[in-house]
Order: sequence, then structure tokens, then C-alpha cells
Amino acid sequence: MRFPRTAPRSDGGTMTASRPWPVGVTGLAYGGDYNPEQWPQDVRVEDVELMREAGVNLVSVAIFAWATLEPREGEYDWGWLDETMDRLADAGIKVALATATASPPPWLTRSHPEILPVTEDGTVLGQGGRQSYAVSSPVFREYALRMTRAIAERYAEHPALALWHVDNELGCHVPHDFSDNAAEAFRAWLQRRYRSIETLNEAWGTAFWSQRYDSFEEILPPRAAPTYANPTQQLDFARFSSDELLTHYRALRDVLREVTPHIPTTTNLMCSSATKWMDYFSWSDDLDLVANDHYLISADPRGHIELALAADLTRGVAGGDPWVLMEHSTSAVNWQPRNRAKAPGEMLRNSLSHVARGADGIMFFQWRQSRAGAEKFHSAMYPHAGRDSDVWRGTVTLGRALEALAPVRGSRVLSRAAIVVDYPSWWAAELDSHPTNALSYPGELLRWYTALWDLGISVDLVPVTADLAGYDLVIAPTLYAVRDADAARLAAAAEGGAQVVVTFFSGIVDENDHVRLGGYPGAFRDLLGVRTEEFHPLLEDEVHHLDDGASADLWSEKTHLEGAQAVRTWADGPLHGWPAITRRATGEGAAWYVAARPSAAGLEALVGEIAAAAGIEPTVSGLHRDVEALRRFAEDGTTYLFVLNHSDRDQVVQVSGRELLRGTEADGAFTVHAGAAAVFQES
Ligand code: GLA
Repeated sequence: MRFPRTAPRSDGGTMTASRPWPVGVTGLAYGGDYNPEQWPQDVRVEDVELMREAGVNLVSVAIFAWATLEPREGEYDWGWLDETMDRLADAGIKVALATATASPPPWLTRSHPEILPVTEDGTVLGQGGRQSYAVSSPVFREYALRMTRAIAERYAEHPALALWHVDNELGCHVPHDFSDNAAEAFRAWLQRRYRSIETLNEAWGTAFWSQRYDSFEEILPPRAAPTYANPTQQLDFARFSSDELLTHYRALRDVLREVTPHIPTTTNLMCSSATKWMDYFSWSDDLDLVANDHYLISADPRGHIELALAADLTRGVAGGDPWVLMEHSTSAVNWQPRNRAKAPGEMLRNSLSHVARGADGIMFFQWRQSRAGAEKFHSAMYPHAGRDSDVWRGTVTLGRALEALAPVRGSRVLSRAAIVVDYPSWWAAELDSHPTNALSYPGELLRWYTALWDLGISVDLVPVTADLAGYDLVIAPTLYAVRDADAARLAAAAEGGAQVVVTFFSGIVDENDHVRLGGYPGAFRDLLGVRTEEFHPLLEDEVHHLDDGASADLWSEKTHLEGAQAVRTWADGPLHGWPAITRRATGEGAAWYVAARPSAAGLEALVGEIAAAAGIEPTVSGLHRDVEALRRFAEDGTTYLFVLNHSDRDQVVQVSGRELLRGTEADGAFTVHAGAAAVFQES
């Protein structure tokens, strides 16, 4: 993985975009999922005219088309897809062509019911929805490979073909399959990981509760059991499930590479605070181009912050390279409890926030709003209401905006702050039978991210294996399960001059979920200069205070100072007077331990203090807290400043350069109106 070094220390050597781009797509990519199989011929013809009007240059086709393309086993009906590809090619619109394997056709689940996935409690998930397959099923895989090869060979030389789109949101509905096929594949995975059953018994701690295995044949997935399943078994099953989906991706990708070595391949990931199904960082090297789907949490009045987190996380998975937003929504979705329509300007700001954070393509689910099926009330680029609608006008406006932003392509985001994100820690920290069930890993991640967002500080979200040397501030929220080498990397960052922050329930266990003995936070005791003898999680609604007046909930612990100094102590509660937040100077930097969960205001004050110690300034000072400002840096030295005003007040920024969306020159004070966006090519 590659990460750009920080702006002030950059030698420029890491600035070159190094991932392939959809063949023939100029400027930024713009479009969405296109499902012409749902529509008659006249609509299909109109679609392409409308796409041209909106400036669409890339569409994802055939994602759920298996049953239409292969209506009976071995009988293909390519007619509609041939015509679609030709029509799009004639219009100069490129295609991210899917493998069509995201949902098996009814004839397949009927003739091979053994491909169906099974839940933890043994329920077989039938056909009639989508994604009704067990990814470990050799039979399913054989059929999926056959379909992939057929479509690859059919369109290998087609001029519209720009990118391969493997399956769709792999694991979205069935992240964990507990079928017999999965059991067999899990055993094989465990054999590769542990080699001997003795090693597995040791790693899983099976001396506990009479769980000792005598052979790999005895092992099952962690199916529903009378009480808590073995935690290491659960953790390994999460690792296995991620790897199993990746193995399936690789097999399909290899067919595509063999048939069309000139066409890059991707799949739409789901990096966000809501999705822990896969270790997305482990997918990075296998994706030619990283693509993500993200949907705004519409009930959250500040949902644009979680959106920003998802975008930064995707950039992290891409190793800092530009990526593509493969799907989001123009307005409401159909699957949240209350599906709010977006406010005027919100969709443009959402889109540009992704671009500001490294996306070189903005796409949607879907092009035309369906009139039938489960997603007919999900918004689209072309809505039920037709042309005379704000949604359609928004689609056209965004197309113009992205055309104007074409020069941004390939430029990068350079951050001096990093947050370490670790999926195994996420999985393990949220297992059952822990000190508190109320700890949410992404909740903690989002709290720290929000504090930086509110301070206007740009941050990279990086894996625990990343080279941290270029960062001046490194935050590790709830890094529960760590290997010695990972802990050493954080220590080296502090030695080297960074402010390193470790939060509670970090460094507690090794990669097998075995506690590191001698006091918490095991792996980070020396770095932090503290030793905790016992956790004191707070009860529901229990709130205490720190000596700076901030309230704190959820967590406390009895921490001894062993080289660190207390930065905040408990001002009340059972641990009155004990350290809650500590700091230890080390080498050129410092290591902070946050053994409490301060309120949002308390956390922002703390992060402000630590960022100041790291010498990090906001991208633009003095902005309203709901105004987002971010810079992308091009290799030739050009910088692009994005200012997105999510607030209801006009915002004046001091800037000189060209405002690309309006095509005007800015010299000095520029007003970004409430709800509006501006992008400056700075001079
Ligand atoms: C995901 C899927 C799409 C569609 C949307 C709805 O992104 O990939 O097929 O179901 O969700 O939001």
C-alpha cells in the first residue's frame, strides 16, 4: 500500500496516480447503474439522449441481468445488451460492464438448491430477493465463472467497454454464510492458517469449556449455540468470510484479466461506519481501481460528516490513490426507516465532498427510477416525475459541475493527521461477553473523526500496517487487537515526532484475542507510560466529570501513572482523582492515552490541544462549523480548494484563483452562500 507523505514534508515522489482508469473516460467519471432490461425500446432510446444532456460518460450495466441474459441454462440472449452497448458506444458513453453474477437466476437455485446461503440459526435463504448464493459453494462458483467468461468473451472488443464491475456489493446481504459449503471452506482456511490442530487449539483457547478439537473435521462455523461461541472462532470466521469473498472476486477477476488484459477491474465496496463485513484494506491490492458505494444517513442532521468519513476511508483503502464513488443517491433511498428527500443543493454538496476527498468519479444507483420491483421508491438520476423536477435539474447541474472540475482528476489529498482503522479490532472489540456491550467501534471512530472535522483538519484513514512516518498526528481509537509489530509502528511514530493518541480498550489482546497480561492497555503500556489494573465501565445513563469540566460516559479505568503525566483527572465518581487522560513525552513526540469518553465538546477541546501540539492548522481557519473545506494537490503544484457550505448561513472565504463551478475569478473575499459549494483552482 502507498500513502502520500504529508504536504509540508512531501518530496512529490508519491503524487502520481498509480491505478488504472476506465478506458476512454475523459475528465471525471459521471453516471450510474443503468438497467435497460427493465424498460421498453423507446425508453432505452430516450435514456441515451437524456444521458448526453446530463453529461453522463460512464454507466454500470448488467449488474442484475443474469436471468435476462441466460434465461435457461446454457441459452444466452445477448440481443438487448448488444444493442445497449452499441447505442452507448455511438453516444460516446462508456460502460462499466458487470459480470451479471450478483444474483443467480431462478433456474439455477431450483436445479441446485445447495448453492443457497444459510444463516447462523440454520435458516436457508431462498430465491426471490437477490444475492441468494453461498459464496463458498463450488457449484455456484462454477456457474458464476461460466457467466463471467461468456460476457467477457462477448464484449471483449466492444468500443463501449471501459471497466469490469465484478458482482455487486459482495457480501452485502450475506456477509457470513454458515452453510455446509462454508464449513468445509472454513476448515480448509483454518488448516492453511494453523497447519496443526494443536496450534489451532492453542490459538482458540479451547482448554476453556471443553472445546478441544481432535481434528479439523470436527470444526464448524460459529453457528447458533447454547451460549457465547468461542471468541477466536468468531474472529477467525470473520477473517475467513472476508477472505472467501475476496477469493471469489479474484477468481472472476482472473477470467476478466485473461480475456481482456487491457480493461481494469473493480467491484463496489461499502466502506462506511456501518459496514464491517470485510477487511476492505486487505482488498486494496486486488482492485485495479477502488470503487465505493455510500448512502447518506438521512436521519442524521450532520450526516455529511459520516459521508466524509466513508470517503476518507475509501481513499485509505485506495492507498491514497484517486477512486470512484460507484453509487450514492440523488435524493431519498427506500431502505432507511424514514426516507427523507435531499434538500436543494444537498446532492451537489454530497457529490463534491466525495470529489474533495479523492473521488474522480461520481455515480449513482440508478440512472432511471424503476417503476416496478423493490426499489421503485428509491430516487434515481431520472425520476418518476420526469424532466420537470428538481431531481433531474440536479442531475444536469452535477454533470456541468463535474465537467468543470475535469482538471482535478488525478490530484490527491495530503493530510498530516491519520486515524488508524483496523477491521479485526472492530470485529473483536464488538464480540459478546465484554466489559460493556455499549461500546461501538465505528461509534468511537466517528467521534474522533467528528472532532477533527469540526476543527477543519483533513485526515487520512489508514490501516494498522500503514507507514505512519509522514504523519504529525496519529489517532488509534479502540485498537483492541494488535500484533507487536503494529504496536511498535505506533511507538516509532511517537519517537519520530508525532503526537500519538491511543484510546481506551486498545492493545488489550493479541491477534488471537488473548489478553496481554500484566495490566492494560497491554501492547501500549510502555509507549503510554501507564498501567491499568481494572476497567470500570459506566452504567447506562451514568455520567461523571473530568477536571476540565467536561462530562464523560461509558468508560473509566483505574490507571496508574508509570512515566506519563495526567492531563485530565476524574473530578467525581468512584475514580475521583484518578487519571482519565495522560500524556508521555517520548523521543521527538508524545503519546496520549484517553482512558475516558469525554462529551463531544470535551473531545473537541482535547483534540484541539493535541493538534496544536502537532502544529496542525485547519485547511481554512475561521469557518462556520458546518462549512467543509478541503484541498486536493496536483502533481504540477496546482491546488484545488473545495468549500462546501452545509450551514444555513452565507460563508465568506478569502481566496484568490478561479472558481471552477461558476467560471469566475476570485480575488479576495468570496461568498459561498448557505447550502452552496465552490471549488477554487488557487493561484
Ligand atoms: C446498493 C446496491 C444497489 C441498490 C442500492 C439501493 O448500493 O448496490 O443495487 O440496491 O443499494 O440503495
